[in-house]
Amino acid sequence: MTRRIRQHVNPLNAPCLAPRDRLKQAVRASREVEVELGCGDGLFVVRRALHQRGGQFIGLDIRTEVLERGRRVVRRLGLTNVMLEAGNFMVDLAQLFPPDSVTRFWINFPDPWFKRRHHNRRWLGASATDALARLLRPGGLLLYQSDVWEPTLAALGLFETHPLLRNTAGEFSFTRPRLAEERTSRELACERRGLRIWRLSFERREAPAW
Ligand SMILES: C[S@@+](CC[C@H](N)C(=O)[O-])C[C@H]1O[C@@H](n2cnc3c(N)ncnc32)[C@H](O)[C@@H]1O
Repeated sequence: MTRRIRQHVNPLNAPCLAPRDRLKQAVRASREVEVELGCGDGLFVVRRALHQRGGQFIGLDIRTEVLERGRRVVRRLGLTNVMLEAGNFMVDLAQLFPPDSVTRFWINFPDPWFKRRHHNRRWLGASATDALARLLRPGGLLLYQSDVWEPTLAALGLFETHPLLRNTAGEFSFTRPRLAEERTSRELACERRGLRIWRLSFERREAPAW
């Protein structure tokens, strides 16, 4: 019998604490650390890990059952540099990693929660942006992509006005080239449907500009 995978989880009702000790340990033990926030099936992270065996790759998602697909692939390939774990960014984002430790954060196609009354379920806001900027190491990258314009514009505003972040494409600009050779499942679906994808790339500054 196939288990039904939920399309959405209400993050306001889900504590879903991530295994912080294990995550911190993995980060300490590795030179390059990439994290996808809201990784879904985790296949993007797995593909990245396959191509770069030296780094540590971490995918986090609130829907634990959807991670199983990626975990099966990790087991089959015997990859030791990937972790796919549960996490609710509304609860534990700032505590997940040591400050200045992550090389790249990926936010790939975050849930848009289109209805206005559901906007409070979007996890990416000012405090999440601040947490990510502080968890990134200087020179590290915050990478974002989406096919939905309004939350993308909101993300651009949040990142652009954070003193620790610098837009690598120039102020208030989108980045043209694809962000990675590997594609996420949602990215592949968008491409099949011919949807436009907006992309952002921000670098963590050495020190605050104030
Ligand atoms: C549209 S999917 C994109 C999945 C994948 N990144 C891709 O591009 O194929 C967004 C993912 O974010 C996860 N998500 C939404 N809110 C979250 C939260 N508060 N904490 C953790 N994950 C969350 C959802 O469960 C979902 O898997």
